[in-house]
Amino acid sequence: MLRSVTATRYVAPLREGGSLPGLCEADDLGTYVVKFHGAGQGRRVLVAEVLAARLAAALGLAVPELVVAAVDPVIGRGEPDEEVQDLLLRSPGDNLGMDFLPGALSFDPAVDPVEPVWAARVLWFDALVLNVDRSWRNPNALWWGGRPWLIDHGAALYFHHDWARAAASAARPLRHAEDHLLLPVAGDVGEVDAACAAALTPAVLRAAVDEVPEGWLEGEPGFEGAEQVRQAYLDWFAARLAGPRPWVAELARVQREAPRG
Ligand SMILES: Nc1ncnc2c1ncn2[C@@H]1O[C@H](COP(=O)(O)OP(=O)(O)O)[C@@H](O)[C@H]1O
Ligand SMILES: [Mg+2]
Repeated sequence: MLRSVTATRYVAPLREGGSLPGLCEADDLGTYVVKFHGAGQGRRVLVAEVLAARLAAALGLAVPELVVAAVDPVIGRGEPDEEVQDLLLRSPGDNLGMDFLPGALSFDPAVDPVEPVWAARVLWFDALVLNVDRSWRNPNALWWGGRPWLIDHGAALYFHHDWARAAASAARPLRHAEDHLLLPVAGDVGEVDAACAAALTPAVLRAAVDEVPEGWLEGEPGFEGAEQVRQAYLDWFAARLAGPRPWVAELARVQREAPRG
């Protein structure tokens, strides 16, 4: 289960991507980057964040701690920005918080040290979860405490915006892999494939889907309840991970043809 906190103060909006996360203080004295269920793509973004973070951690990739952040829209009272006010009013109750890494810098593979095996694992992971949001334009990776951290997986698992066609995406290669932040510095994805797939055991996947709060899955059109949605994610991952994985072969091909950094 994710730890729960209550947001006590809205500090400032973070305006990098489109989703307008807010920096918030909470009742545990922590500071969190909060993603709101009332933002454009709704609560599925929060589900993607939880699932992706869990799988990344299982692959040994560092992700900041996630929490469920209870929000009372009154915390936005002092915020002059109307867009922020509206977003908070649309987002009462449980939202997603991510531990704020103070003083973190945007990760830059041209400057920060990179282990090729780590980079290959990140590439493999982003292809697994169909995360197109880690390019040199938009790194979504931070350098903090002497190591890289992965953030922002809200765009991953985009098949869940159209469940009727989800099964067809299970073999699909990562789009725009040629623009991936780590493509020029990553080791061979073919060499990390077996170990990465083996790390994502049925127990790991089950624990990941169980971590998603019930309320973010209930009422999903076409499903009878949260458990059925959890099962649909498990079915998708089982199909995605079944060998031979064509999306890994395609990623390896893009990698072979890319200019090296
Ligand atoms: N845990 C964190 N610690 C420090 N800074 C963060 C953290 N999460 C996000 N940020 C900063 O906030 C920006 C926006 O967050 P992100 O999750 O990328 O949302 P989006 O791109 O959807 O707006 C990031 O690019 C980064 O600069
Ligand atoms: Mg981002």
